[in-house]
Amino acid sequence: MKRIGVLISGRGSNLQALIDAQRAGELGGGEIVIVVSNVETAPGIERARQAGIPAVFRDHRGRKREEYDAEIVSLLKARDVGVVCLAGFMRLLSPVFVSAFPNRILNVHPALLPAFAGLDAQQQAFAHGVKVSGATVHIVDENLDSGTIVAQEAVPVFDTDDVETLTQRILASEHRIYPKAVRILLSDRYRIEGRRFIIGDGAA
Ligand code: GAR
Repeated sequence: MKRIGVLISGRGSNLQALIDAQRAGELGGGEIVIVVSNVETAPGIERARQAGIPAVFRDHRGRKREEYDAEIVSLLKARDVGVVCLAGFMRLLSPVFVSAFPNRILNVHPALLPAFAGLDAQQQAFAHGVKVSGATVHIVDENLDSGTIVAQEAVPVFDTDDVETLTQRILASEHRIYPKAVRILLSDRYRIEGRRFIIGDGAA
C-alpha cells in the first residue's frame, strides 16, 4: 500500500523533501495523500497545500493521548494510508497508533541513534563533543526513538561548527535518507531480524 500520510509539528522541510522526491519519481511509487499537523501555525501546512496535498490541523492540547491518536488513525485510515511518515512530529505515539500501522510508521531523527535520543539531539551531540553525528530513519515503536533502524548517514562535526551549522549539515542528511528509507519500505524488499533491518537486492 503506497498511500502515505505525513505528520508534522513545524517547518516541514522533511515533508518538502518527501514531496520533492515524489515529484521526481523517487519515492518508490509512494503518494502523499494527507498531512496532519498538531500545531496550527506549522509552516509545513502551507508547503503541503502548495503541493496540492490536503493538510489538516488537529489540536492535541487538553486531550488524552489515546483519544487523540485514535482520531488521527481514523483520519489516515479514511484516506487509505498504508505508510505513516513522522516528519518533525514532536509527540510520542501511543500503542493505539503504533498497533494500527505495525512496522509501517517511519520517523527521522537528527542523530545517529541510539546516541542522543529525545529532544534537541543536535545540541546534545554538540555539547557531548562527538566528532561524528548524523541522521537516522527508523521504524516507530511505542518507545522514544527506539525502533528498528532503516537508514543512517554520518555527518562530521568540525571544530569550527556551532549548533546551528551542525544542525544544517544534519538536516541536509535527513533530506537525503528519508526519501530513500520510504522507497525501501514501499519496495517490501527487506526483512527484519531481531533489531536488524536487512535490505534485499535492488530495494534501495
Ligand atoms: C528535524 O531535524 C527532525 O529530525 C527533528 O525535527 C526537525 C524537523 O524539521 N525531529 C525530531 O527531533 C524528532 N525527535 P522539519 O520540520 O523541517 O522537517
